[in-house]
Amino acid sequence: MMKVMMPAQPELLIEAGSFRRLPELLQAGGYRSPVLVTGGRSVRGRDEWGIVTEALLEAGYPFLEFTVRGEPSPETVNDAIGEILRDAPGSDVVVAIGGGSALDTGKAVAAGAAMAVAAKAAAPGNKEGTFDISRYLEGVGDREPSGETLPLIAFPTTAGTGTEASMNAVISRIGPGGFKKSLRHPRFVPSMAIIDPDLHQGCPLEVTRACGLDAVTQLLEAYVSIAASPLTDALAALGLQKAGASFPRLIAGEDTPELRAEMALAAYLSGVCLAAAGLGLVHGFASPLGAMRDIPHGVVCGLLLGPTVEHALRKDSVSRSPADHRSKYGNAARAMGFTSAAAMVEQFFDWAEALRRLEEYRFTQAEIPLIARNTGLKNHPVKVEEQESIRILESIL
Ligand SMILES: [Fe+2]
Repeated sequence: MMKVMMPAQPELLIEAGSFRRLPELLQAGGYRSPVLVTGGRSVRGRDEWGIVTEALLEAGYPFLEFTVRGEPSPETVNDAIGEILRDAPGSDVVVAIGGGSALDTGKAVAAGAAMAVAAKAAAPGNKEGTFDISRYLEGVGDREPSGETLPLIAFPTTAGTGTEASMNAVISRIGPGGFKKSLRHPRFVPSMAIIDPDLHQGCPLEVTRACGLDAVTQLLEAYVSIAASPLTDALAALGLQKAGASFPRLIAGEDTPELRAEMALAAYLSGVCLAAAGLGLVHGFASPLGAMRDIPHGVVCGLLLGPTVEHALRKDSVSRSPADHRSKYGNAARAMGFTSAAAMVEQFFDWAEALRRLEEYRFTQAEIPLIARNTGLKNHPVKVEEQESIRILESIL
């Protein structure tokens, strides 16, 4: 017997120039009052931004807008929700345009605003601005999200986290006592994910590289996950094939709409697969590392891919996976266009050469044991002892 659970997926549109059609898309969805959430430097510097915001006003759509700089904190999300409650309580859709941070903010704001409006309706005497999203975060809060949310339309402008396809938003507080945790509910999957390759073109090389390494990691970790299914295997293999065909060319400096669309689809598939099959040890390391310092998530993934997969390939006797994890790594490698898992690992180490290592983000040797202790295995296919985690971390210091 086999039971396969696939979470709901957004309506997916892949079309160059689709962002310019936003007023039309809103009209088709029957929306009247959008909230726009963007990243700090992605879409606002483009001609499309002026054209679309002007067209929205001309078409009679009043909108609120927020800019997100860096990864979303509870305060960023709470401030936006407070403003929506105060200035535009009738908002009926969130449109998030940007990288993973902007989309995660949009996802959390869409859910938080709906929950806050419902809470206010239930208890009208409550003071405005008292809603706190961190109470709904896994491992941090004391409440479960109800699943209420405004519809979310996600326009990714980078090919990385795949949050446009997944049910969680990662919220962080960086520093001592910090965390990097998810707001999660099956109903938080965006209503629409729209890949407009025009918005991806011109993305700086280092962002393309870091984001792409996150997507590759997510596809590979979902593919070898102990919770993988034939459905996630098929989608992850397709994503790995798309990434293998486009990522090396993009980081060599090619920048065509076709390559951008191909890599964006790989990232989207990584979000679908991680929501259904989970992730592995690289993402287990990424939580404590990302909570301690402001280090790009894709850089963490890119640094850890090589040593983590190399380690897993050596561990044949203590597998947690019902499948032969070595043959799965071999299949993944061939899907990406490599001759073997070993050749894939070698390429992972080569890609990591362009990344700054942990010490350059002020991590120290003394912190390594604590990070290893706070690292979860997630759905990694092999067992990993704390000493082994320490050695992997030391290798990227
Ligand atoms: Fe990731």
